[in-house]
Amino acid sequence: MTGQRTCLAIVLAAGEGTRMRSARPKVLHAIAGRSLLGHVLDAVFEAGGTVTAVVVGPGAEAVAAEAKRILPDADIFVQAERRGTAHAVLAAKAAIARAPDDVLVIFGDTPLIRPQTLTRIRKALADGAALVVLGFRAKDPTRYGRLVLEGGELVAIREEADASPAERAIGLCNGGLMAFAGPTALPILERIGNDNRKGEYYLTDAVAIARAMGCKTAVIETEEDDVRGINTNAQLAETGAVLQQRLRQAALDGGVTLVAPETVFLSSDTKFGRDVVVEPFVVFGPGVMVEDNAVIRSFSHLERAHVGKAAMVGPYARLRPGARLQEQVHIGNFVEVKEAVIEAGAKANHLSYIGDATVGAGTNVGAGTITCNYDGVAKHRTEIGKNAFIGSNSALVAPVKIGDGAYVGSGSVITHDVPAAALALARGRQVIKDGWARRLRQRGSLGKRDTPAK
Ligand code: UD1
Ligand code: CA
Repeated sequence: MTGQRTCLAIVLAAGEGTRMRSARPKVLHAIAGRSLLGHVLDAVFEAGGTVTAVVVGPGAEAVAAEAKRILPDADIFVQAERRGTAHAVLAAKAAIARAPDDVLVIFGDTPLIRPQTLTRIRKALADGAALVVLGFRAKDPTRYGRLVLEGGELVAIREEADASPAERAIGLCNGGLMAFAGPTALPILERIGNDNRKGEYYLTDAVAIARAMGCKTAVIETEEDDVRGINTNAQLAETGAVLQQRLRQAALDGGVTLVAPETVFLSSDTKFGRDVVVEPFVVFGPGVMVEDNAVIRSFSHLERAHVGKAAMVGPYARLRPGARLQEQVHIGNFVEVKEAVIEAGAKANHLSYIGDATVGAGTNVGAGTITCNYDGVAKHRTEIGKNAFIGSNSALVAPVKIGDGAYVGSGSVITHDVPAAALALARGRQVIKDGWARRLRQRGSLGKRDTPAK
């Protein structure tokens, strides 16, 4: 059992994203709505990491902050100089010295690692191995370290740059993830030197050292997708695509109808109820929950939003953070909802902005209605009661309240509260001038003394 064993997970995140030509640290790039580091830390958490140490580069406050956001208990260690993967692990020496049963070393740039893979590695430690390496058969082994086996036993890992032609022909590669039995971790790690082509302290040298010390080593094999490392933007996109396929498959397996799965983009935390239908070309940003029988129509974009039972969203709808639609709400084309509760059965079917608002149950928001929530300095709320009717092209200037059952005439600019069951009209009164247009045409031009305003 791995359950009773304490586990220190060391996540290496000190690499700079130079090959990505980006000012952002590599591990803060995101796929499926979550940073690379976030994916790794989630897997560590699910696999029962008791203590997590994140090794960051100097001045990487943003990386440390992201680690803390996801795992508030994570310990942050700084690797002052980038001198290799073993050197990075030893930045967390104080955590290793606290003698956990298992020590897992995971790279922050391998976001597809699954908790069950980490659990398999921990099982091998529990079964008596002192050092476990995660291996895979690479389609293209170039650039990966190769696993050198003798008589079925792992005896060394050779980096591409240091490998002989025979070693380069080995197809079994180092996925980068390594695990140590706690008591032997430091004795092995502290023996690693930097006598190689790059002059770096290679974590991979731990294998030969462990063997020389008479320790038992083991290889756990996994599929390549599990250990995809990200060094370039192209790899970021490819890895994101693999993750999207996993997420779509999980949604389909969970009973969601995706009409054209390959056109729907999900986040790792997207949640669906039963019998949800998602039409083609929909994007789910982070933090979206869609309840039973809801329909998300084409070209909609949702982010940190809640869609209630049997609600209809889109086509072309935008649900921004804090949009909370209760059951049977309809949000139609070119309607944007932000930080607003839309109560049961309410409708906003066309061309509206509803922000910082409450829309009561059964209320109808007419085409082109805008909640004017921002006065250039602060945001204000609009509160609309139940079963109200907001006429088309109304501007509701917040802070403002519309009572239950009230009516707002089309084209109104509402600046004062409207009592329940009242009618509010706030627009210019219509003027008719008989024959005016005919006289204009007869004269052939608009005279100075006869402008339409008169
Ligand atoms: C490493 C492995 C290689 C393996 C491959 C799998 C070593 C020596 N090589 O190569 O065998 O096949 O991963 O993807 O381990 N890092 C630090 N500080 C450092 C150096 C690296 O924190 O001083 C971090 C990086 O941020 C990264 C990880 O360690 O997250 C791996 O480093 P990277 O340079 O990407 O190693 P690879 O050359 O890919
Ligand atoms: Ca790498």
